[in-house]
Amino acid sequence: MSNSDNTCTFLPIKRLDGECQVAGDKSISHRAVIFGSISEGITEISNFLPGLDCLSTIDCFRKMGVAIEVTNKTNVKIYGVGLKGLKEPSDILDVGNSGTTIRLLTGLLSGTEFYSVMTGDDSIRKRPMNRVTNPLVQMGAKIYGRNNNNLAPVTIIGSKLNPICYQSPVASAQIKSSILLAGLWAEGKTTVIEPTKSRDHTERMFTSFGGELANEDKSTTITGDIPKLFGQKIEIPGDISSAAFLIVAASIVPNSEICIKNVGVNPTRSGIIDALLAMGAYIHLINQRNFGEEPVADIIVKSSELQGTIIEGEIIPRLIDEIPVLLIAASVAKGQTIIKDAKELRVKETDRIQVMHEQLLSLGVISTPKEDGIEIDGNQIFNGGTIDTNHDHRIGMAFAVAACIARDKIKILNYDSVKVSFPNFTEVMTLLGAKYE
Ligand code: S3P
Repeated sequence: MSNSDNTCTFLPIKRLDGECQVAGDKSISHRAVIFGSISEGITEISNFLPGLDCLSTIDCFRKMGVAIEVTNKTNVKIYGVGLKGLKEPSDILDVGNSGTTIRLLTGLLSGTEFYSVMTGDDSIRKRPMNRVTNPLVQMGAKIYGRNNNNLAPVTIIGSKLNPICYQSPVASAQIKSSILLAGLWAEGKTTVIEPTKSRDHTERMFTSFGGELANEDKSTTITGDIPKLFGQKIEIPGDISSAAFLIVAASIVPNSEICIKNVGVNPTRSGIIDALLAMGAYIHLINQRNFGEEPVADIIVKSSELQGTIIEGEIIPRLIDEIPVLLIAASVAKGQTIIKDAKELRVKETDRIQVMHEQLLSLGVISTPKEDGIEIDGNQIFNGGTIDTNHDHRIGMAFAVAACIARDKIKILNYDSVKVSFPNFTEVMTLLGAKYE
């Protein structure tokens, strides 16, 4: 790995084996900080994800007067300020690359009594915000952003909010959570109805902190204006989205057998396991239990011959972040894989349909991008070469997995981006037998 030019070159290998853990879940880590900050008393978080995205969330709350201590990178102690205790930040809140931070905090800050401004990196300033600002404005929020409230920086002037029943056009946990967090301030019931169910970590975390909400299939209702939430001890499960890179790697590198311990297997997130099982993967969940409200398991994976598949509809939000690495598996599976109903990929950290198509091509793998997905024939071979993450963490890690089975080494440009969600990715891969230079 070269730190000077921000690249890492992964080499082909013969097998992966051993036992490991992945870093804490990104979505759950954000939510633990948010609810810990607005609760009464102390919240202690273990296995917090020290990825740049979650550190941005900590930084935002510190700027709003919340004392937060981080020890050994993954233990976080929050001195909650209560529901009315956040202070006006004296400077702009910088969310870095984190879509979850900016979208969730836009909802939360809409109902405060102060003025705040949020911005982020080049990618964040291109990603759509009106998916949250439109419903929030309907609730009475005063939000001002570029391009008709669609682009950060966003300015929020905290105001009194009214409850809403919002039918979201997109299955997105960021939209749902932003509105539910705004609903905390509104007197009465705020409901979000989704086309298909997105990840429900906000709902589970809110319940852990003593809140109550009603969940009915695709609709979630929060009753606002509650007196208080209570600080908690939270253990964060390993991130299934990070485990996905290892699961695919062990599936496609011959003679592999690995065990990934303590992975979150919340059904709203475990679509990657279902999709790979449908492709013929050997994946076995053992030691199933709960960390608080979240189900956890150890995952055993052995290599197997994968078949192409069709991935569409209800499963898409359950594996949306795993599609880049799923495409690596699809490239070498037998037969064609078709991914549909995944237009959301175009508005992630990068346009992941276009970026995956281009980077696959640079290694000799052909795919056909579609407006709402991508098609790829299997039985292809990865040449060695160079790919560019385009500053998207999941693109980088997907191609590190591809390198394990490539003809020759793969150099990954802008590799630093992996720090966003899986800062010790290189170490964990190496522990299992991956090689880099
Ligand atoms: C996230 C929700 C998803 C996901 C993102 C994290 C969250 O985004 O892609 O990485 O923590 O709520 P959408 O809700 O926009 O689909």
